Amino acid sequence: MGVKSKIVIGNWKMNGSAELVESFTRTMLDNQAAYAGIRVVLCPPFTLLQAMADALEGGPILLGAQNVSEFEQGAHTGEISAPMLASMGTKMVIIGHSERRASRGENDRIIAAKVKQALSVGMLPVLCVGETAEEKARGDSGAVVWQQLSVVLHAIGSELFGQLIVAYEPIWAIGSGSTASTDDILTITTAIHAKLAQLGIQLPLLYGGSVNAGNAAQISSLPTISGLLVGGASLQAGQFLLLCSNT
Ligand code: G3P
Repeated sequence: MGVKSKIVIGNWKMNGSAELVESFTRTMLDNQAAYAGIRVVLCPPFTLLQAMADALEGGPILLGAQNVSEFEQGAHTGEISAPMLASMGTKMVIIGHSERRASRGENDRIIAAKVKQALSVGMLPVLCVGETAEEKARGDSGAVVWQQLSVVLHAIGSELFGQLIVAYEPIWAIGSGSTASTDDILTITTAIHAKLAQLGIQLPLLYGGSVNAGNAAQISSLPTISGLLVGGASLQAGQFLLLCSNT
C-alpha cells in the first residue's frame, strides 16, 4: 500500500445481504475513477465474505473482516481464525472495535493476541481505540487512547506494532451523528503520533465515528489522518462512493 494513499474502510457491522454485495460492488466497480488513488476496503459480516471476495475479484477494492479469533485453530466453537480469513483473500481486519470491547468483553490481552494472529498470516490489523463520553468529559481522552495503544504495543513489541493501522474512534461519536471536531481529532492524533515517534514508530491513523460524505473531506485532509473508518455511511453505495471520492 502506498504510504501516502488515503484509506477508506467500510465496516458493514451486522448488516448486508448477498443482494447488497452484488449491487454495492457493481456501483463501486463501475465508478472506480471517482476514488482513484484511494485504498478502499470493504468489511462485510463473515457470512458475506466469500460473496464479497468473488464480487471484488480482480478489482481495486480490498476485502476486509470485522474480527478474527485470538486462536490459530482448534476447539473454539464459533470462532473464525486468521488462516481461514487469509485463505479467502482477506487483507485487513478490524480488531478491538469498541462495540466488541463492550459487548464481547474483549480486553487488551485478547486484542493483542488477535493482532498477532492477523499479522502472522500477513493481514493488516486495524486496531480501534477511543474514549467514552464520560472519559472525554473528564478530559481523559488522550490518556485513555494512549493506554489502549500502549498495552498492545507492550504485548507485541514496537516492530510488530509499527505494522498496524490505528483507528481513532471516539465511542460517543459512533452511530450518533455527532462527529468529533477537527480540533479534537487533531489534538488526539497529534499526541499519538508524537508518542509513537519517540519510540521510532510511524503508522497510519484513521478516524471513525459518524463519518459521512459531507465531512469526509474535512477530516481526511487533516495532516495527522491517513483515512476513515466508516460504519453507517458504508451501507449505501451512492453515499459511500461520494464519501470515497471526497476523501
Ligand atoms: O467502525 C466504524 C464505526 O464504528 C463507525 O460507525 O456509523 O458512526 O460511521 P458510524
